[in-house]
Amino acid sequence: MIRCVSCGEEYGDDEVIYTCEKCGSVLELVNEIDVSKDIFDGRKDNLWKFKECIPVDETKIVSLDEGGTPFCRCDKLGDELGVNLYVKVEGSNPTGSFKDRGMTVGMTKAMELGVSTVGCASTGNTSASLSAYAARAGLRCIVFLPSGKVALGKLAQAMFHGAEVMSINGNFDEALEAMTALALEKHLYLLNSINPYRLEGQKTIGYEIVRDLGWQAPDRIILPVGNAGNISAIWKGVKEFYDAGFIKDLPMMTGIQAEGACPVTNAFKKGDKRVVPVENPETIATAIRIGAPVSDIKALNAIYDSNGYSETVTDEEILDAQKLLARTEGIGVEPASAASIAGLKKLVDEGVVDKGETITCVVTGHLLKDPNTAIDACTQPTEVDADIDTLREILMNK
Ligand code: F0G
Repeated sequence: MIRCVSCGEEYGDDEVIYTCEKCGSVLELVNEIDVSKDIFDGRKDNLWKFKECIPVDETKIVSLDEGGTPFCRCDKLGDELGVNLYVKVEGSNPTGSFKDRGMTVGMTKAMELGVSTVGCASTGNTSASLSAYAARAGLRCIVFLPSGKVALGKLAQAMFHGAEVMSINGNFDEALEAMTALALEKHLYLLNSINPYRLEGQKTIGYEIVRDLGWQAPDRIILPVGNAGNISAIWKGVKEFYDAGFIKDLPMMTGIQAEGACPVTNAFKKGDKRVVPVENPETIATAIRIGAPVSDIKALNAIYDSNGYSETVTDEEILDAQKLLARTEGIGVEPASAASIAGLKKLVDEGVVDKGETITCVVTGHLLKDPNTAIDACTQPTEVDADIDTLREILMNK
């Protein structure tokens, strides 16, 4: 069953609907887990090991073996910050971001519904993922990208997998509004995270974090927030496992935004339940360059209900954290993902995060998604002839 998160109006699973017809709010799938957690044991470690908890037809699955991503204990960085730190590396998904979790489920639903065309607006990763899964499913794929503001790796993926890519003169919020209008006119099936089936995939990040910790919740899950779907999805996942009795505690959901694109943090700091959109959002972390997040209600509910928090970080703090994670722990992430690490650092300094807390930072996309920012942050290599004497001298003098 699909239910409105605000007024509770109910809809059938097969209705192609993105927002509540009665009140305009966002929707979610309602499902109860009635299996034992033991049935997940021994299955291949991908997202579909949780298939009983995902409300789609398993005979229609479109998968690239997503999920089951690395869960790295990071003692060097954790000790520096005085916390027990684990990093969930979502860049290890097939197209290099967590979006693949949402897309395998969303595309499976598209096959169930028998649609022929899918579409999304995107800051990059959603389009990269959608175009790959549409190719696998054999569907027409249309993507709208904010012109000049999509990292190169993501653009390459969307084009290479054969999507029809439109570069929109406007920001992500404007591109999404246009794409949604076309979906409501039934020209295509919308696979942005306003589609509640997307979040049914992404909730498995929450499932895996508590499973990876030995069926325990961390004290806190920290992640970047843009359109605000993922924080809502992870909270749904951990709550489902809590309600099923698989875990005994719940984590504090902690959302980090870039200073130039922070409507959720602004709302949180005022205690509001809705955001006031930020006009002209700007940040080097283009993945989260979003001013009017569609899942704001769900995200703020997740933060309030979990006794969580929301904070902003500057672009400089993001780039520093990106380098720190890469150089102390060997984990390469794109700028938006590094916001979670930058946020952790800031919250430790502010005393919001207590010493000794067990923290999971979700890093959402791979370093290679945005090669330009990575290259710009480094000193370029010196050109030298392949002469052993010269090379030895340079190395020994360092
Ligand atoms: N991190 C990365 C790498 C992302 O690509 C996104 C969102 C987020 C974090 C934020 O997640 O929107 O669920 O709060 N990217 C979308 C896209 C908007 O189009 O690829 P969110």
